[in-house]
Amino acid sequence: MGIKQLKDIDRNYISQNFELAVLIGDVKVKVARNGKRFADIIIQDASKMMEAKYWDYEDNEEFINSISAEEPVNIKAVVGEYQGQIQVTIKHIEKADMDSIDIVDLIPTSTWGLENMKEGLDFFYEKVTSPHMKKLIDKMIFSNDHFKMFSTHPAARRVHHNYYHGLLQHTLEVLKFSYIVAATKKLSERQIERLIVMAMLHDWAKIIEYKPLPNVGFTEEGIMLGHVFLGAHNTLNAINEIEDFDHDDKLIIINGILSHHGYLEFGSPVLPKTVEAQILHQADKMSGDIESIMTFISEQENEEEAFTSKLWNMGTNYYKKGTD
Ligand SMILES: [Fe+2]
Ligand SMILES: [Fe+2]
Repeated sequence: MGIKQLKDIDRNYISQNFELAVLIGDVKVKVARNGKRFADIIIQDASKMMEAKYWDYEDNEEFINSISAEEPVNIKAVVGEYQGQIQVTIKHIEKADMDSIDIVDLIPTSTWGLENMKEGLDFFYEKVTSPHMKKLIDKMIFSNDHFKMFSTHPAARRVHHNYYHGLLQHTLEVLKFSYIVAATKKLSERQIERLIVMAMLHDWAKIIEYKPLPNVGFTEEGIMLGHVFLGAHNTLNAINEIEDFDHDDKLIIINGILSHHGYLEFGSPVLPKTVEAQILHQADKMSGDIESIMTFISEQENEEEAFTSKLWNMGTNYYKKGTD
């Protein structure tokens, strides 16, 4: 078998060496007890993102800092264990031959397929028939400037949908979940239109908040302002450029974007004030939670225990037997 991708690494390989092509993300420099500086380096390939120790950082500082997020590297590393957790230690890093590696092969990608997702998005686009709301989503999502970013961006850094096309897949999930609830509860056509617009735009500002892959992490705007505010701000600006945009629709859509995290303590400055906004919040939570649980379980499927370790955002561990 051997280690062909990062996700193959498990307890069976403890103390074994391996070589892989990966991308390098954040490099956190730390000081060891002997005063020497080392680094915790985020490495990733299409299968997984993980942290690795690099003890020789101090001697190779300049080289490590010269590697950009778009440059594949070859690493030689060893699998170890520290306090019960798998730990990967990098022994050697060198830049990879760019001709032999396609960078897209090292970026995790949504398995839904871009064409399928575009079709899915079209289904909901067709349901928005009021000219002012159609203009709004045309401007913000379907314009040439935005669609490329919107359709390739990840939806999160760590917890859920952190892959190529992740924002598009998450948005589509939220649209589908919202639509089923709206149809079941027989919301009016106007309410359904607003819900679709809100769902399409709720995380739109993640194209500003996160760096584009293969970079990982937040932009300065993201850290300082966050996607909840940025989404509402940009949507309001776009609405103000559209003549005769209905006043109620404006308030309801902006409230939906601002309140989609559901609670003040989760970063929403106001609470959901309409049925549409509450549906959006719950659909958003469902999409994120289920994705994070499924990814978490699949990342630990190679290990023998019946239960996973604790998933911090859900506050519990999960039973793995019978998940295949
Ligand atoms: Fe969000
Ligand atoms: Fe979301």
